[in-house]
Amino acid sequence: MSVRPLVAGNWKMNGTRSALKELGLMAEGYDAALRASVDLMICPPAPLVFLAAGAAIGTRIGIGAQDCHAEASGAFTGEVSAEMIADAGAGAVIVGHSERRQYFKETDAVVEAKARAAIRAGLAAIVCVGETREEREAGKTLGVVGRQVARSVPEGATPATVIVAYEPVWAIGTGLTPTTADIAEVHALIRKKLVGRHGKQAAGIRILYGGSVKPANAKELMAVPNVDGALVGGASLKAADFLAIAAAYR
Ligand code: 13P
Repeated sequence: MSVRPLVAGNWKMNGTRSALKELGLMAEGYDAALRASVDLMICPPAPLVFLAAGAAIGTRIGIGAQDCHAEASGAFTGEVSAEMIADAGAGAVIVGHSERRQYFKETDAVVEAKARAAIRAGLAAIVCVGETREEREAGKTLGVVGRQVARSVPEGATPATVIVAYEPVWAIGTGLTPTTADIAEVHALIRKKLVGRHGKQAAGIRILYGGSVKPANAKELMAVPNVDGALVGGASLKAADFLAIAAAYR
């Protein structure tokens, strides 16, 4: 099955309103040739989602958020629901990023509930998985990632509702990446788990690779079997870098 690739940018806790000029530059560089071959998405910090969604109208660049609460509304001071994110104009939300799992102690059950909330609100859930350095060195990568996919991706996942992002924790922000063979092995496992549980249509669920994706390595990483795009951190903050990564699909 041919899957339309997605290059998504996770701005993390970076960027104020002035950063939206980069979104404008991305839109300018997202020309017909790129639009024909790859989807683009930017996930800015929550206060910028509404403005970014407005700025992105007519550009065909998707806007996503970086986290949501599982409930639709209520007494959860400081939290943002998937319904609010959808109402702000976004089309997707990242859930279970390793920084949330690590610093905010999010379990697979929490991530799964957030992913269900995203789908309930009409958003695509970008479900992140990935092993730590200790887990890789102990030979536990496939076990860990397999378990995270089984427990974090909700029942009934479809290509429209779920995107999986494989982000080895040790590759995030470090300049390190797994070998292409290692990435191929993990993505094949994720594909097998998705199809095994969600049926044949899960062959169309996009599986992104994330972790130190840069213009210099994008082409090689995006050519790995079952890699249907990238989730980019640092290199998504500047339009020139982000577009150079997307150009791997040109
Ligand atoms: P870097 O691209 O900065 O390594 O971050 C990856 C990431 O965590 C994207 O979600």
